[in-house]
Amino acid sequence: MTDFNYDSIKPGFDRDKLLTSMKSQLSDFRYKHCLRVEKVSRGLAAQYNVDVDKAGLAGLLHDYAKERPADEFKAAIKSHNLNRDLLNYGNGIWHGIVGAEIIKDELGIYDEDVLNAIRRHTVGSTRMTGVDKCVFIADFIEPKRDFPGVDDARKAADTSLNTGVAFELKHTIEHLVDNNRTIYPVTFESYNYWITKGEL
Ligand SMILES: [Fe+2]
Ligand SMILES: [Fe+2]
Repeated sequence: MTDFNYDSIKPGFDRDKLLTSMKSQLSDFRYKHCLRVEKVSRGLAAQYNVDVDKAGLAGLLHDYAKERPADEFKAAIKSHNLNRDLLNYGNGIWHGIVGAEIIKDELGIYDEDVLNAIRRHTVGSTRMTGVDKCVFIADFIEPKRDFPGVDDARKAADTSLNTGVAFELKHTIEHLVDNNRTIYPVTFESYNYWITKGEL
């Protein structure tokens, strides 16, 4: 176990209590994935001079809401007055964008840098910050990820954060098209923006 401490983001924040709660509501695989993303995100942040604690906490929480039922997300979209277009999508989009609102409600975390990284971890954004990029990339390259191209993704992340983000967006869009899946418009906007910023 680590002794990561997130007091700088929320004074008195009890990471062990959060872990107990996450463990009870997530599958074992996802729970451990969250811990791995926390660690990789912290490492990227240290490598690229980004706030390590914000990148770590956002990494730990990025899939906090992933296993909630669709009805809970739909209710949260309405109660938080989020864009109703979100109702046309599914868990893959909701667990980040809507998940951030659930995290606010349940954990009392209001740091917008942390919340934005969670919102943006599946779709990206043209305004991605260093913290956003660390979480986005860590989710894609954590040690248990095993897909064709993961080694190239790790190399891209080691070149620069922008290169890692560009690689991942390109890969994600290719994968969605190959599988006849719909693409959330923000993902396209992110791709168009970042593909010119990385060194692919
Ligand atoms: Fe996720
Ligand atoms: Fe994830």
